[in-house]
Amino acid sequence: MIRSFDLARGRINSGAGALLEIPGEMDKLKAQRAVIITDRNIAALDGFKKAVENIRNSGKEAFIYDAVEPNPTDTDCEKTADFMKEIKPDVIIAFGGGSPMDCAKAADAVYTMGVPTVECGVVAGGMQKIPPTTLPIIAVPTTAGTGSEVNDLGVIIDSKKHVKFPVKSVNLLPKLIILDPMITVGLPKSVTAATGIDALTHAIEAYVSLSDFYIGDAVALYAMKQIVENLPKAYGNGEDIEARENMLMASLCAGFAFSFNGLGLCHQMAHQLSSYFNAPHGVANALLLPHVMRFNMTARPERYADVAAALGCDITGLDAKAAALKGAEKVEALCRQLGIPQYLDDIGVDKAMVPTLADSAMLDLTGRNNPIKTTTEQCIALYHECFRP
Ligand SMILES: [Fe+2]
Repeated sequence: MIRSFDLARGRINSGAGALLEIPGEMDKLKAQRAVIITDRNIAALDGFKKAVENIRNSGKEAFIYDAVEPNPTDTDCEKTADFMKEIKPDVIIAFGGGSPMDCAKAADAVYTMGVPTVECGVVAGGMQKIPPTTLPIIAVPTTAGTGSEVNDLGVIIDSKKHVKFPVKSVNLLPKLIILDPMITVGLPKSVTAATGIDALTHAIEAYVSLSDFYIGDAVALYAMKQIVENLPKAYGNGEDIEARENMLMASLCAGFAFSFNGLGLCHQMAHQLSSYFNAPHGVANALLLPHVMRFNMTARPERYADVAAALGCDITGLDAKAAALKGAEKVEALCRQLGIPQYLDDIGVDKAMVPTLADSAMLDLTGRNNPIKTTTEQCIALYHECFRP
């Protein structure tokens, strides 16, 4: 069943088969010529090929740019914009996990403004400069994790400085989000696991952040509950369509929550593991999350007790601190159940690099709403905790 929800920031079409409605949606946007921004793995999926064929059979044009790399850089975004200059599209279909969606948003800004990616970044004042004449974006998440489909943000690596920077503007918000569980059915188990924990991290960090916006809070708690119930099912049986659809919606909710409330220290530290060691984003978060939860919970034990309850822990009779600890244990157990690496050693992180990672983390603004303002020394200690004892 296709369901449609109208939100101030765009529309969501959700349900098995929703992908095949793209031609009709292009009509609503008065678009005839789509650039589909994705990566090679996704471009090889049957569901992707079927969606492209369906667009072309409707008489519209679809040009595929499938060269997006994991953790896209400023130069990746510029190459994407160069492709767009050749074909002159009137709509962007961002098809993928976080990397294609982030790249599509930043490339939209680069294409529209005709400047290098770094000049579109928030620090360079891009937020005020990106005009409303950007191309409309249709976002099709192929993993249930990033939440990129529901926010106005592309996180890009500065290839010279080795730091991630945000390209952000209300004019980069997707006009339409398509949640079709059929496209996630073929995902490798490891990707289902890691992206699902990324979504869980979004929900937890949004809920405990210092920005207590009640809509973000409510949506974050809902996402936690859905993820803890459905992620093990989607991991255990990749063809469980109901679990897949619930995970897509939970991921969107978690993304919605953090677009209001912000993220925290876990993402702040995880970004550096991706920048320096190319760690998959979800794995980096999963490794750090229980440690960051234990660190942060001293500042907001009641909030973390709510997290534990949302994750299904029995907290009857426990004080807030004891309840909060149950939540961190639950996350650890879930990550073990999902076969995610447990230690930084397992993903090739060099201990000697910890001070560099911590210095970079201090420059990362992602954790500015974190419950504790973290020092470099605390950050170093937390990274060290995540190595094999
Ligand atoms: Fe994330």
